[in-house]
Amino acid sequence: MRRKLAAGNWKMNGLSASLSELEAMGKAAGGASDVLICPPATLVAPAAAAAKDTGVSIGGQDCHAAASGAHTGDISAPMLKDAGASHVILGHSERRTDHGERNEDVRLKAKAAWEADMVAVICVGESLTERDAHNTLDIIGGQLAGSIPDGATGHNLVVAYEPIWAIGTGKVPTTDQIGEVHDFIRARLERRFGSGVGRSVRLLYGGSVKASNAEEIFAVSNVDGALVGGASLKASDFVPIIEALNAAG
Ligand code: PGA
Repeated sequence: MRRKLAAGNWKMNGLSASLSELEAMGKAAGGASDVLICPPATLVAPAAAAAKDTGVSIGGQDCHAAASGAHTGDISAPMLKDAGASHVILGHSERRTDHGERNEDVRLKAKAAWEADMVAVICVGESLTERDAHNTLDIIGGQLAGSIPDGATGHNLVVAYEPIWAIGTGKVPTTDQIGEVHDFIRARLERRFGSGVGRSVRLLYGGSVKASNAEEIFAVSNVDGALVGGASLKASDFVPIIEALNAAG
């Protein structure tokens, strides 16, 4: 059985005061679902301290492929781990777009995360042009093959399907479209890593998830939770999503 996971990606949002949101999020999970919050790097250590008794896990939003070195402004996986993070989001489309990250970069970062004993939350997703050209599954297949290192397990990998056109736009794919991609990702993971491992990796949907659409998204096969941006910043928005996940079959 895969445990459900509600993950929040705070992106470049949040100051110390935001940490007061964590307690209610942990309470809402009540042990029924896992909750992960990925705050900006400046808040990883205080968030980990604030989340200590809440059941909420803390993650980074990116890491460098190297453990240390002359890389001004970058943060390594051992640094995130040392600050209290257990997970790190890698290959988010905003990183791929803003920083030119390619599948190969994401793969090396994931290896670094695993070396630091962290869970890699690897993001894949097609653009609207790619979807309109009926290339969605080819794109996702290429991203999975190129971004996930050998050695994946249900403990060290989470895959997030985030159609780029659905992120922050309020547009959401139909449940059939989400199901098609999630079933495809599951099949690809089973083919590459064997059915035991392939079936144990959690698959999250991300892109404009909110309280009003969470229930129908969580009912889709092979959706084990969500990666939520805007609606994860405040407990009042995120708690109903966690509750919908708890209630999902
Ligand atoms: P959104 O972002 O929920 O604000 O659309 C999702 C994400 O980018 O992870």
